[in-house]
Amino acid sequence: MSHIATSTFFRCVAIACLAITSTVNAAPAVPKWSLLPRPATASPAGSGAAEIADGAVVSVRGAERQQVQSMAERFVQRVADTNGLHLRVATTGASHSAITFDVNPSADIADEAGYRITVDNGGILVSARTPRGAFYGSVTLWQLLTPPGWTRGAPVEVADGVIDDRPRFAWRALLLDSGRHYQSVADIKKLIDWMSLHKLNVLLWHLTEDQGWRLEIPKYPDLTKIGACRKAMGLDSELTGSADLPYCGFYTEAEARDIVRYAAERYVDVVPEIDLPGHSQAAIAAYPWLGVTGKRPSVWTDWGVSPWLLKPDEKTLQFVDDVLDEVMRVFPSRYISIGGDEADKQQWNASPEVRAQMHKLGLANMDQLQGWFTNQVAAHLIKHARTPVGWDDELVAGATLPASEVVMSWHGNDNERVALAAIKQGHDVVMTPQESLYFDHYQSALPDEWPGPPPAATLRQAYDTVVIPNGASAIEAQRIIGVQGGLWTEQMPTFAHDQHAVFPRIAALSELGWSPSSAHDWNGFLQRMPAELARYRALGIDYADSAFAPTFHVTATANGAFQIELSNQLAFGTIRYTTDGSDPTKQSAPYAQPLTLPGSATLRAATFAPDGFELAASRTQVLNETTLLSRESSALATCSSQPGTRLDGSRPAQGPRPVYSVDIGNTCWLWSQAPMDGITHVEMTVERMTWRFGDEAADAVVHHKASAAGEFEIHADSCTGPLLASLPLESAVQANGQIHLDAKVATPAGAGVRNLCVFATGDPRDGQWALARMAFSK
Ligand code: ACM
Repeated sequence: MSHIATSTFFRCVAIACLAITSTVNAAPAVPKWSLLPRPATASPAGSGAAEIADGAVVSVRGAERQQVQSMAERFVQRVADTNGLHLRVATTGASHSAITFDVNPSADIADEAGYRITVDNGGILVSARTPRGAFYGSVTLWQLLTPPGWTRGAPVEVADGVIDDRPRFAWRALLLDSGRHYQSVADIKKLIDWMSLHKLNVLLWHLTEDQGWRLEIPKYPDLTKIGACRKAMGLDSELTGSADLPYCGFYTEAEARDIVRYAAERYVDVVPEIDLPGHSQAAIAAYPWLGVTGKRPSVWTDWGVSPWLLKPDEKTLQFVDDVLDEVMRVFPSRYISIGGDEADKQQWNASPEVRAQMHKLGLANMDQLQGWFTNQVAAHLIKHARTPVGWDDELVAGATLPASEVVMSWHGNDNERVALAAIKQGHDVVMTPQESLYFDHYQSALPDEWPGPPPAATLRQAYDTVVIPNGASAIEAQRIIGVQGGLWTEQMPTFAHDQHAVFPRIAALSELGWSPSSAHDWNGFLQRMPAELARYRALGIDYADSAFAPTFHVTATANGAFQIELSNQLAFGTIRYTTDGSDPTKQSAPYAQPLTLPGSATLRAATFAPDGFELAASRTQVLNETTLLSRESSALATCSSQPGTRLDGSRPAQGPRPVYSVDIGNTCWLWSQAPMDGITHVEMTVERMTWRFGDEAADAVVHHKASAAGEFEIHADSCTGPLLASLPLESAVQANGQIHLDAKVATPAGAGVRNLCVFATGDPRDGQWALARMAFSK
């Protein structure tokens, strides 16, 4: 480590010292800090920098030595893994440390989770009152050692200055849904590690669902023996290896404890969620007496809101107390979530027994009965000095929640109003609005965007989340204790999906949760993204480049050539392109204005940061006579004008897994202004998806079938306009994966440019057709 310009005190610790001396003479530019989340205050000195090179010594002093020493060792390992620099933790107090961690409970640091980093000619000092604060300081220091454009293994200069930092909110959370699809313990640990590098401190672990009960409860073994397995439906069978093998998985008590311990080392609290009284079909499948009807349902294979609710009686309450006793044994967290969302009351309403109980309790309706049930459950937690957490649904319905319950406010566009109502009732509130912080929602309109429900929740929307509801007074605002992203996993069968959904939107969440409101600055955030994405790459995170990826807008020119406009979602970075089929590099031509290319060409484009970092991998647009005559489903509107859901198709033997844009329950697309002159044939690539969409079943649109197996039909002008082509599905209904259909087209009278309506006949609930691509030819 060496201190440039102002000191050479540490020069000879590192081999690189000679090179440093020459940079001193050249008066190098002071490197810039690129920190995410942005610290509360960051004051660069304006000149001078410390250099950290291979062999630099890290020492630990002050209180809680052992804990801080382990943290420092993990810091050194992270620097080695990502940056390639090999630092060395001193075993005894070293006099010539490049980096010092100092924990002093009476240090002048504003917050117990806060820290101060001082970079000057004495080296780099990270001070904190607690090991937690020192850990957050170590994360910032790791970012200082991975600045924009770092070269693996090369010494890093850290500009002199002082960073004084502390969190804005106490609750900085990511929800992980292990019910719909579960994740391995190893993958959950990775996620926790990466959360902690965003200074998040709560993993809201959603452990029970209609589709699977995932936590071992020794007193009720059938919860996991029966409730952790569902029949493999749709893509589940890819995960199990066969449609005959059920999709099963749960966490043993030992595994859950291991995750809690691992998280605690990274200052992440695991807050378990046992969702009650809805989302309980798997529990009722295990113990039918928990339900209202006495019948045993299967563990659900659909997505959506199941009608199977727990029966709100004494026996169920005893079961819940027993489950929570085990949960409290395994999870030391002060907070425990008891859910409370989406409790569809149809079974309660239909049950004379439940209605009688409601009347006996003097309650006016079933929402009040849910409120009563929740209060009973919460009382058990409160008796054991735990704080209940739950969703805002019952507040929306007008019921009263337990006074001490923390409310997670997710209700869409209503979020601010509901959150404000919760505050006014005296609740602490966590903001987790569905429209911007539910990371299951897809994040772009790219043709290759991964699955998720509509509408899109972009990186920008995540960053712009309103965290203090409009209309809240300064006192009321203090009731907002934090923010939470939601990783709901209906469409996330693998950890690769999870990573694509979470990263980089978690960076926006991180800044919302940690940085002061005065630091909120979209442009500044964007400038800091390249270094952040480079860190993701170094950590091995499969992040989404959706917000930066180039898109192509192609139109025909009069002379048979094409005009192409390139852009990306954020209008950020430089798009560079090639036309010779090669992958663009940071030296390739920068896109500045619409391109004109001949009738046959291959255009490839990628996006680069100013330092040359590739922000988005290359995308390809082939230009030939079929370009304007073909469309993927993501480029078509749905007939309901609602944005489509993105669904994974089955994995082909070769090539990437397809993703479709589908209006679930209404198998119908619109192609506006299709060029129909001279068209004689059409080809379609389609796949039949397993129907597992409970919420959409009631509104399914059934088109009349002209043959037993049904067909795709293409109509001109409207969905009841002239029939241009009919593509029978007879050969397709039994097929697995994508199939290709083709047919002659009855060119419409007068041809020209026409609006087209394309739909599959039959009932989508028997299997919903998805459209990959349609292509006309002459
Ligand atoms: C929720 O999204 N059902 C909390």
